[in-house]
Amino acid sequence: MRDRARDADSTAPGEIVGLGPGERELRDAVLAGLSTAQKQIPCKFLYDDRGAELFEAICDVDEYYPTRTEIGLLARHCDEIAAALEPGLAIVDLGSGSARKLDELLAGLCRPAAYAPIDICRESLRAAAHRAASRHPGLHVVPVCADYTEPLELPDVFPEAPRLLFFPGSTIGNFRPGEARRFLSRLGELAGPRGALLIGVDTTKDPQILEAAYDDRKGVTAAFNLNVLARLNRELGADFDLGAFSHRAVYNAARACVEMHLVSKRAQRARVAGASFSFREGETIHTENSFKYAPRHFARLARAAGWAPARCFIDDQGLFSVHLLRFAERAAPS
Ligand code: TRP
Repeated sequence: MRDRARDADSTAPGEIVGLGPGERELRDAVLAGLSTAQKQIPCKFLYDDRGAELFEAICDVDEYYPTRTEIGLLARHCDEIAAALEPGLAIVDLGSGSARKLDELLAGLCRPAAYAPIDICRESLRAAAHRAASRHPGLHVVPVCADYTEPLELPDVFPEAPRLLFFPGSTIGNFRPGEARRFLSRLGELAGPRGALLIGVDTTKDPQILEAAYDDRKGVTAAFNLNVLARLNRELGADFDLGAFSHRAVYNAARACVEMHLVSKRAQRARVAGASFSFREGETIHTENSFKYAPRHFARLARAAGWAPARCFIDDQGLFSVHLLRFAERAAPS
């Protein structure tokens, strides 16, 4: 079916396959997260339409070096990356956003068979699918709206094609290290035999550079973080006073992690989906972790998850790394 649609118009992406989280999941997760001693909201809920838009804007702020550094690495090394991969790949883009990084990757790859962007945000996915289909005529585009932190069965995109999982943006850093390892093992199953993983990983560095990247002067990151409360007001009928919370990003060197919080500026209460939560002055909601890895530490984590590091590319200033891994099938003993 899908093949016939593609033949009719090779620049049209396939229908979005919907596997995304519903409103009930948002409510349950938020009610549970606000009931723990350290209040928290899972970071995947930052990405509603507005959040995804604000995140795109973060990618362009001066202080946020990861996006431009990673794009530079992909552009500089795309031929080497392509040479290390098989032809006829099915590319699975985990958290594609609007798929800006794909162009750099595709510049080197000769004729991938298919492209499956996966994102939790339907609007971003629509943009990614259209962009990929119009810029790369003939590419079979199968967008999937899903939360890839949950077990995921992909639609049968060219079952014979070897899979390249593309996981840029240092999103792996948004998992705690133990979770990251389990997640990477699951990606091994998703990649299958002959599978490869191209993954962007932010490096440990000067805390000042890190903290500025997560608290830019224009306040785009602050707006992104605060948007999650606006989302709860909108989607769960909550009554958060957005002016009574502020954004905070701190680098915890012992954990090698930038932590993002929303800080209550005063003692207050907020209602969410019929429940009431109190906040002390200075109390925080933890909204995200962004763990950083020295390249050899990331390689060790990947090995423990069953991947064999093949190549690692780092920019001259050591700001960001891109690792190419092959699935080694059997996890190394840890
Ligand atoms: N994966 C991105 C990162 O860790 C996500 C991100 C960037 C982010 N800036 C943020 C998440 C600010 C929350 C708040 O770099």
